[in-house]
Amino acid sequence: MSVLSSFLLISFICDLCPFYSCIMLPLKEKDRPIVKKLLEAGCCARCVLRFCCLGVQSAYRQSYEDTAKELCAFISDSENNKSQDAAVLEQHTEDPPRKKIKMDAAETGVQSEGDSAVVPAVMEEGDAKPADSDVCAVCLGVLQEFCDEAYAIKISDVVKVKNYQFDTMVLSVSLTAQLSVREHSCWLHVKKEVREKSICLDKDDVIQVKEAFKWTMQGLMSKELGGVPVVTKFEVGFHKCFCHQWRHATHSLSFHFVSQQNVFTRMAVVKALEKVSDEKFLKKFPCPPTRPARKCIAQEVQCLHVSVFVAGRYNKFSRTLPQTPWVIDGERRMESSVEELIAASLFSSFRAEGFNFSSSGREEVDVRTLGNGRPFALELLNPHRARFNKAEVRQLQETINQSSDKIRVRDLQIVSRDAMGHMKEGEEDKTKSYTALIWTQKAINKDDITFLEETKVSHRRPLAVRERVIHTMSTCFLDTHHFHLKLRTQAGTYIKEFVHGDFGRTKPNLCDLLKTETDILELDVDSVDVDWPPSIPE
Ligand SMILES: *[C@@H]1O[C@H](CO)[C@@H](O)[C@H](O)[C@H]1NC(C)=O
Ligand SMILES: *[C@@H]1O[C@H](CO)[C@@H](O)[C@H](O)[C@H]1NC(C)=O
Ligand SMILES: *[C@@H]1O[C@H](CO)[C@@H](O)[C@H](O)[C@H]1NC(C)=O
Ligand SMILES: [Zn+2]
Repeated sequence: MSVLSSFLLISFICDLCPFYSCIMLPLKEKDRPIVKKLLEAGCCARCVLRFCCLGVQSAYRQSYEDTAKELCAFISDSENNKSQDAAVLEQHTEDPPRKKIKMDAAETGVQSEGDSAVVPAVMEEGDAKPADSDVCAVCLGVLQEFCDEAYAIKISDVVKVKNYQFDTMVLSVSLTAQLSVREHSCWLHVKKEVREKSICLDKDDVIQVKEAFKWTMQGLMSKELGGVPVVTKFEVGFHKCFCHQWRHATHSLSFHFVSQQNVFTRMAVVKALEKVSDEKFLKKFPCPPTRPARKCIAQEVQCLHVSVFVAGRYNKFSRTLPQTPWVIDGERRMESSVEELIAASLFSSFRAEGFNFSSSGREEVDVRTLGNGRPFALELLNPHRARFNKAEVRQLQETINQSSDKIRVRDLQIVSRDAMGHMKEGEEDKTKSYTALIWTQKAINKDDITFLEETKVSHRRPLAVRERVIHTMSTCFLDTHHFHLKLRTQAGTYIKEFVHGDFGRTKPNLCDLLKTETDILELDVDSVDVDWPPSIPE
């Protein structure tokens, strides 16, 4: 499947959230004091719904302004004792009176207990006036500014510009870690009322920011992208613009409660919040959470398509072509490589941003690979095009074949990441066949070498852990100093060392067997017996 991930980092927020028109929310009379308390604490309209444990997805999909206005009307109704209705159903024609949200300004700087090695926690802004912003004190505006059609269009536009081909989109959102802490603080603030009045019994019953975001944005994104399914994944980031007082307090909290390692991770924060007592938490953090003064900023939208894997077999006909770029001391030695010749046209056809080549073993620069070739796989990183039919793949193969005389490719096909494993599977037990051109110092005749065909060799190299087996050998006499030796061996056998003896270190070796100096002049790989990838009929 062709899956595009889009990364979007939301780290800080704040903007006006004007209260406009209104529709209807399934809120109950008993929610009224909770709604009031949450609004007064600086919660945004959608966070109010979350803490009322409202699990109706459509409630989050309605425009933020409508929800805000409706909540406003809901609590002002209560003040005027106009409505005892379970739900606010009327369509308001006028703007409800704007309610100035009052905040408790009596927050004081509290030092952390001196039992951790971390900077003392300082409360945000000390006793400074509550920020005049309308940034939500809990979600930092994620559900206000980054959860609407305009924002969905903005992300989709970035995706469209990159011109990707994909079937599914994963929206990966990285949220700042302090959201978890603010959520906890808000929960403590309304815990009592919520437990008494609503169906929520625990913090886990509160609808999470992630859920509310997902319910709203997945549909909007999918619509903008022409119906492509969109799923959302969240991660927690520790962004630089993380308000530093909250950061220190969060850090010292996780250090204190998950102190085995001094690692500041999302899990450390989550675990610390599970373990911390209410009293301890309240000493470190304001409750309700303070309103942030600064805007949350969506950092960037990055797009990444999952890798596409292409496999096949290659022949190498050159004795001056390395398998991979040959660089010694930062200097390029040979002008090309098997890897580059194969990747060049695939890379551009898939409009990829990088590649990763792997193969079943490798040959040295002066060794040819003949026969059916050597299995290889190429991972194309962040490809913008991912769908190719059989005819198109065949065309790709032909383009590679025609690009150079040095290599040829067959059985080219798109495979899954998992299938790649077959290539490396049982590599040790596979056999390989070679043809070596041998030179002998002593003159030989045909009969001097035929005995080799009866010889089975198990040989060992210094430092090599395992013995390698040469299953069969056959010879073809050329002249008094040359013959062809064909070998079928266990993978990993060092043919060159077997022939010249590696200064007597590889035993037995051909010099000993023939009782003369021998050397290997040329070597070809005739077959690599790995039955992957499956062959493609012509
Ligand atoms: C307003 O409503 C509350 C209950 O919602 C009730 O207790 C109170 O008496 C009412 N006040 C007036 C003035 O009607
Ligand atoms: C390339 O492949 C290797 C082994 O499969 C893997 O460890 C490495 O992370 C890959 N590199 C990239 C850039 O994906
Ligand atoms: C590419 O070359 C290989 C090896 O000679 C051959 O088997 C294959 O049919 C060629 N494919 C195309 C499409 O030219
Ligand atoms: Zn909010």
